[in-house]
Amino acid sequence: MTYQDKNALKLSHEYIKAHLNKEDIAVDATMGRGRDTLLLCSLAKEVYAFDIQKEALNSTRQLLDEHNITNARLILDSHHNLKSYVENAKCVVFNFGFLPGGDHTIFSHSDTSIKAIEEALSIIPLDGFISICSYYGGDTGFEERDALLEYLSKLDSKKYTVMLHSFYNRPNCPPLFIVIEKNH
Ligand SMILES: C[S@@+](CC[C@H](N)C(=O)[O-])C[C@H]1O[C@@H](n2cnc3c(N)ncnc32)[C@H](O)[C@@H]1O
Repeated sequence: MTYQDKNALKLSHEYIKAHLNKEDIAVDATMGRGRDTLLLCSLAKEVYAFDIQKEALNSTRQLLDEHNITNARLILDSHHNLKSYVENAKCVVFNFGFLPGGDHTIFSHSDTSIKAIEEALSIIPLDGFISICSYYGGDTGFEERDALLEYLSKLDSKKYTVMLHSFYNRPNCPPLFIVIEKNH
């Protein structure tokens, strides 16, 4: 295996495919156009997907319908409220940034992103995981990325393993792939 044809999203999908099973519940915390929701639905028993934009729910519903997918619950709410909807899940997937092809002034922010990660950590079991793709750059994202990395650097290493994957020498702020595993 080499990394030259990879990117953060491909790495996250490979990780998710290797660790999610048909009896699991999964959360897509940033639904967007539904590509991650679609993957999770094909692998897990049940999927809860969140977004704050109706446009994201509409797009995702259309994509799922095209694939005859019925095991997703689409929720119009911020991911930092995820515990109000789901009590346990094998994994929570974040894809931070703005809606592709949508309003670029609406994007994730570090305060709610970190609150959501805290909620996610509390609902995953031992051996559960959180997958994060962090898109940063332009007008948005540097503040969120920096706050996120600062927060993750302080997670107790006895309880969690945090892996940070960066395509370090690529131009134009290449997205990061981060995985947090809850240690068994
Ligand atoms: C990079 S996109 C996600 C891409 C998506 N996973 C896909 O497959 O198309 C980020 C999404 O996060 C959403 N978002 C931003 N803040 C949010 C929040 N607090 N709670 C839930 N979703 C949020 C945005 O509306 C946007 O649709």
